[in-house]
Order: sequence, then structure tokens, then C-alpha cells
Amino acid sequence: MAAIRLLIVPVLFVAQSAAGLFPRSNETNYIAALNACTQLDVLLGFPLVQSSGPSYETAATNAWNLQNSEFHPTCIVFPTTSDHVQVAMRAIYDAKSHYAVQAGSHTAMKFWNVVQDGVLIIFSNMRNASYDSVKDSITLQPGIHWAEAVTALEPFGVAPVVSEVLAQGSSSAVASPGSLPSQGYAADNFKELDVVLVNGDLVTATATNEYSDLFRALKGGANRFGIVTRYELYPVHTGTKDNQTWFGGLMLFNSSAEALLNATARYVREVDDPKAVLLVSLINTVTDGELVPTYLVTPFYNGPNLPEDIFGDFLAIPNILSTLGPMSYFDVAGTLGLGDDRGYVQHFGASALVGDEALFQDAFVHWQNFSEFYKDNFNSTTLAFTPIPDSQIQAGRAKGGNIIDAPGGRFAAVQIYEQFKAGLTDIPPDVITGIDSLFEQIPPSPGLPLYVNECDSRQKVFESYGSYELMKQIYAKYDPERFNVEHTEGPIGL
Ligand SMILES: Cc1cc2nc3c(=O)[nH]c(=O)nc-3n(C[C@H](O)[C@H](O)[C@H](O)COP(=O)(O)OP(=O)(O)OC[C@H]3O[C@@H](n4cnc5c(N)ncnc54)[C@H](O)[C@@H]3O)c2cc1C
Ligand SMILES: *[C@@H]1O[C@H](CO)[C@@H](O)[C@H](O)[C@H]1NC(C)=O
Ligand SMILES: *[C@@H]1O[C@H](CO)[C@@H](O)[C@H](O)[C@H]1NC(C)=O
Ligand SMILES: *[C@@H]1O[C@H](CO)[C@@H](O)[C@H](O)[C@H]1NC(C)=O
Ligand SMILES: *[C@@H]1O[C@H](CO)[C@@H](O)[C@H](O)[C@H]1NC(C)=O
Ligand SMILES: *[C@@H]1O[C@H](CO)[C@@H](O)[C@H](O)[C@H]1NC(C)=O
Ligand SMILES: *[C@@H]1O[C@H](CO)[C@@H](O)[C@H](O)[C@H]1NC(C)=O
Ligand SMILES: *[C@@H]1O[C@H](CO)[C@@H](O)[C@H](O)[C@H]1NC(C)=O
Repeated sequence: MAAIRLLIVPVLFVAQSAAGLFPRSNETNYIAALNACTQLDVLLGFPLVQSSGPSYETAATNAWNLQNSEFHPTCIVFPTTSDHVQVAMRAIYDAKSHYAVQAGSHTAMKFWNVVQDGVLIIFSNMRNASYDSVKDSITLQPGIHWAEAVTALEPFGVAPVVSEVLAQGSSSAVASPGSLPSQGYAADNFKELDVVLVNGDLVTATATNEYSDLFRALKGGANRFGIVTRYELYPVHTGTKDNQTWFGGLMLFNSSAEALLNATARYVREVDDPKAVLLVSLINTVTDGELVPTYLVTPFYNGPNLPEDIFGDFLAIPNILSTLGPMSYFDVAGTLGLGDDRGYVQHFGASALVGDEALFQDAFVHWQNFSEFYKDNFNSTTLAFTPIPDSQIQAGRAKGGNIIDAPGGRFAAVQIYEQFKAGLTDIPPDVITGIDSLFEQIPPSPGLPLYVNECDSRQKVFESYGSYELMKQIYAKYDPERFNVEHTEGPIGL
């Protein structure tokens, strides 16, 4: 197998570098990757290691962002155990090969879950979820998607803390995804993590053992500190599908942006009830060359109704559709569907704002102008607000704290998202210029952290963390040779 690859791949290498798909693509990297793959062919072999064929092709082209689906890793490793990940990482490290890791495939960030002239580790064959009622913990393998985890655990009356959209893999947990104000960020609910370090060593990190520093850094540190091969999590005791202990749903609006922004700003500033959850997404869909507004509000309350003093402003704005009613947590988690559409260039950007009407209106004006100016490029544009109440930050601290270390709550994580129109395979340079202006026009309020799951890969997310200095120290301890920052793409700043 290795011999065959040696014969055919140099041809591919030339073709790919001519296409200029990956800035680091060059012959040195290619030979390093080939050495790692040749080694892995011997140690793991087919089907755990593949460099062509249907499984290889499907995996190499599966990334959600079209920009990340056009790469040809030198080989793909499909581990089924953490041992396989250790073997792979050792070979990658020894060969000084580039590499990437892919779990749920849903990052929008260019290059973060793919590699050209390197080794790709894909967790598509590690997707179990289980619940241990004696330990009261959930265990997830890294390739599982939130929707699969929630479905598998529902009969036990427990759930992991997930984001509201269910298509992502559990690696969003590495990065501090979705949240529940009563429980903190999802990553705050880690109990124990098995981590393959950059040199292939496997360690188990907890809040209190000798790897407690690594454990903390993994709550917000994305892919920089190692590869997580097992997540043990604190469960939320949500009940089953039959326990309709929540009330909420979605409301759609086709106008009233100003009133919605005011309601959102006031909510962000005033609401700290850990039972309340809100996501507000202002969406422009490009239809027949024109922007059509669709504003989506998803309010939820862990109780029999939506309290007037919390959600009254939203309820008073005339909507065009409302599905509000009693729900189980299972229903809450599924409200926004899978968001699993393939074939489009996707782009995220992040800001973070304190609850101030003028700031929110200003952000909207700039975003609307941007959407209008570049509309010929888009399928849709979104400006979304996720309130982070203080109760959520405190819940995270009570569980040992994370590396994001937000300065108290009551702010909104702001997501700026574009889905490009079908047929575009990259972001045109003039739109990148517009995106950069937009970031300058909607700067984060001082001291607030950016959300690593929903950023532009050029944004300095780690620098925005409260514990950035500590994070750098922990990184230097676990990867003294800086192998990861030099050999795999991910958040910048370490
Ligand atoms: C439709 C949609 C809706 C979304 N909504 C939300 C939301 O509500 N809240 C939110 O927080 N985010 C949201 N996101 C963002 C999403 O949570 C992040 O992109 C997340 O990282 C996706 O996880 P994944 O496993 O699918 O990612 P992948 O693309 O597989 O990987 C993302 C990054 O994590 C690294 N990684 C993967 N597995 C591991 C591992 N085991 N160990 C170490 N590093 C690893 C990868 O190398 C890569 O850098 C949304 C994304 C989409 C597409
Ligand atoms: C190849 O890329 C690496 C970085 O990944 C760089 O250090 C090296 O100089 C490059 N080699 C050539 C010949 O461009
Ligand atoms: C994952 O699930 C499969 C099928 O149920 C089972 O055979 C396997 O042992 C499980 N692996 C782990 C690590 O739990
Ligand atoms: C779910 O419903 C069952 C049956 O009514 C009840 O015993 C249980 O306490 C409920 N669980 C939660 C979390 O509400
Ligand atoms: C919003 O929807 C209503 C009801 O369908 C319609 O009458 C109205 O014209 C729409 N407004 C806009 C701005 O599209
Ligand atoms: C929004 O809030 C601003 C500032 O508080 C106020 O001037 C404006 O009238 C409000 N608009 C709406 C529609 O509520
Ligand atoms: C926009 O995306 C949706 C799916 O999200 C798709 O149904 C639709 O065809 C797309 N429209 C264009 C113009 O690409
Ligand atoms: C609107 O967008 C264009 C293009 O980015 C920019 O030149 C202009 O300054 C923007 N105007 C406002 C008010 O944001």
C-alpha cells in the first residue's frame, strides 16, 4: 500500500500545489506526511488508515464549510480507540507532519478541520454515548453529534448541556459551546477528559488531579492542548420526552428590527434568571436579488410559561409565526433543526456586547449596510445575539472555572454569519474587506471574551480571554516545542 502511494501521490502533489489550496502545501510537508502515513500503514493498516477509495473521498469532502471540503490529506486515520489516536499522534510527531482533527465537521473556520499534505484524524467511528447512573455521569466519544447524544440519553432522563442547534459534533464542547445559564458553558460541565497530548501520551485530566491546569485550558482552548478521546460530563437531569417542564419555541418576525434589538438589549442587561434561555437571530435571506428579513426569536423558560417580566417585550411585538408551548428539554434542544446543509461557503465572525440599545442598533445598521452592499454574494446573512447572564458565568466558576474567564456575565455573544450563494467556492477579496470593516464597526465591548466556536479564524479570540496569560503558560508546559501551533490550524495567539 505504502509503495503504491509513493508512486501515485507525487503527481497529486503537483496538481494540488498548482491549485494553491493550502498555504502550507509544499514538498517538505508532503514528505513528512508521507513518512507518517507510511508508518501508520504498518502500525494500524487498512481500514483504520486510508489514502484513497470511497471512505477516504467521503471523509475528505464532508466538511460543512465548502472551503474545507476540497483538500486531499495524505492519509486519513479513522480511529476506533484512544490507542489508535496515540499511535497516530506519535507518528505525526516523530515525522514532524502537519495534521488536523475532525469530529462533527461543523466548524466554519477555514482550515481548522482539514489538512493538505498532512494526516487527518476523523472521529466518525467513535460516536458512543452512555450514562452511568451510579457515577451520575455521561460519557461521550468525540465523534458523536449533539443530536445523537441527546437522542441516546433521553430515555435515561438526562442530557448533556448542548447548544440549541443539534448538528455539531461534541468537539464543540472542547471549544465551549452552547450553554445553559443554570449550568454554565457546555465545557464547564466536563468531569473527566482523556487527552492524547502532542507527543502521543494519553492522560486523564480532572479538576483536581495533576492535570488540572490542562483540564482548565481545555475549557475554551479548542484544539490547541491535545486531542480529547473521551468526555465524561456532568448530566443535566432534564427528564424524558414526556417531561414537559419547559415552555417556549420559536417566533418569526418579518419587520420590527428596532423593537427586537431594544428588547434584546434590555434582556441582556436585566435578566439573570438561570431558568431563562434566549437566542435572537436577525436573518436576511437573498431572494431575487433582494434582502428579505426573517427575524427569529427562540425564548425558553424552565417553567410552565414565559414570564411577562422577562419575555414581555418580545411577546408584545407582532409576529408572523409563533410555536410557543410546553416542551421537554429534548424538544428545546431540537428547536432549530440540524443546520446540516452542505455545499456552501460559510463564514462566522464574533463580537460581544453589553446590553445597550444604542450599541445594538449601531451593530444592526452596519450589518444591514454590509448585507446590502455585498448581497450579490450571499444566500443569507445573520446577526445573532446569545445572552450570557451572570448566573451562567457563576455556574461555570462553581464547577472549577474555565480559561475564558469572562468578567461576570450580562453580555451578549454576537455572531456574524454569512452563507454564500451556491456556486461560490471561496470568499471574494472585496467581501473580505467588507467583513474586516464590519468587525471594526462592531468591536467587542471592553473586557468581553469572543466565542471561539463562532469566530473568524483571523480574530484574536484567546487574547480576549480573562486567563490568557495563564493559558499561554499552560500551553508552554504541555507543548514546549510548539508543535501544535506549527503543525495544525486553529485559534491564533499562543
Ligand atoms: C448550523 C450550526 C450551528 C451552530 N450553532 C452553535 C451554537 O449554537 N453554539 C455554539 O457554541 N456553536 C455553534 N456552532 C459552532 C460549532 O459548535 C463549532 O463549530 C464546533 O467546533 C463544531 O464542532 P464539530 O465537532 O462539528 O467541529 P469540527 O469541525 O469537527 O472541529 C472543530 C475544531 O475542533 C477540533 N477538534 C475536533 N475534535 C477534537 C477533539 N476530539 N479534540 C480536540 N480538538 C478537536 C478540530 O480540530 C477543529 O479545530 C454552530 C455550527 C453550525 C454549523
Ligand atoms: C514548507 O512549509 C514550512 C511550514 O509549514 C516552511 O517552514 C518551509 O520553509 C516550507 N518550505 C518551502 C520549500 O517552501
Ligand atoms: C461503543 O458501542 C459499541 C456498540 O454498542 C460497542 O460495541 C462498543 O464497545 C462501545 N465502545 C465503547 C468505548 O463504549
Ligand atoms: C418526569 O416525569 C416523571 C413522571 O411524571 C416524574 O417522576 C419525574 O420526576 C419527572 N422528571 C423531571 C426531571 O421533571
Ligand atoms: C410581513 O408579513 C405580513 C403577513 O404575512 C405581510 O402582510 C407584510 O406585508 C409583511 N411585511 C414585510 C415587510 O414583508
Ligand atoms: C429603542 O430604544 C431607543 C433608545 O432607548 C428609543 O429611542 C427608541 O424609541 C426605541 N425604539 C423602539 C421601536 O422601541
Ligand atoms: C440557500 O440555502 C438554503 C439552505 O440553507 C437552500 O435551500 C437554498 O437553495 C439556498 N439558496 C441559494 C440561492 O443558494
Ligand atoms: C457600508 O458598507 C460599505 C462597504 O463596506 C462601506 O464602505 C460604508 O462605509 C458602509 N457604511 C456604513 C454606514 O456602515
